[in-house]
Amino acid sequence: MRRAVCPGSFDPVTNGHLDIVSRAAVLFDEVTVAVMVNKSKRNMFDLEERMDMLRVVVSDFANVKIESFDGLLVDFCTTHDITAIVKGLRAVSDFDYELQMAQMNRSLAPVETVFVPTSPEYSFLASSLVKEVASYGGDVSGLVPEHVLPLLAERVRGRRD
Ligand code: PNS
Repeated sequence: MRRAVCPGSFDPVTNGHLDIVSRAAVLFDEVTVAVMVNKSKRNMFDLEERMDMLRVVVSDFANVKIESFDGLLVDFCTTHDITAIVKGLRAVSDFDYELQMAQMNRSLAPVETVFVPTSPEYSFLASSLVKEVASYGGDVSGLVPEHVLPLLAERVRGRRD
């Protein structure tokens, strides 16, 4: 069985993430979306909230599951018998760092990184920008899954009050 991982913070999951996960699900038998625990980063949503959102938005894909991970991604891959990391490339600017990570990961374990070009309509999309726009009352519908919209609005309201 060909297994792949789509790793990230997913704070929150965007339509750009979903685009890459759905395309990975066509390329591989099983795709694990691995949510980084990331204790040092100040996330808007805690780990369980991020995983719950992902569970809902990938529920249509029979071969996609959600896990969390802490530590090195290659260790997660080894433990789960995963041989490929799928990453979306939005623009050339993503490439430098992604290439560096791919080569570092390959030097640590026999895991290949597969780059998937982000669909053009999502090439500007990042969770950080979605949070910023939402926090100033901007319209982020169309950028995050429908399920995420009210959760984001509620969190933004909670931070303002
Ligand atoms: O959504 P993000 O925050 O950009 O995702 C970054 C992520 C999780 C893919 C990356 O930080 C990662 O793989 N972290 C795990 C720690 C690790 O393996 N570091 C070495 C990378 S070469």
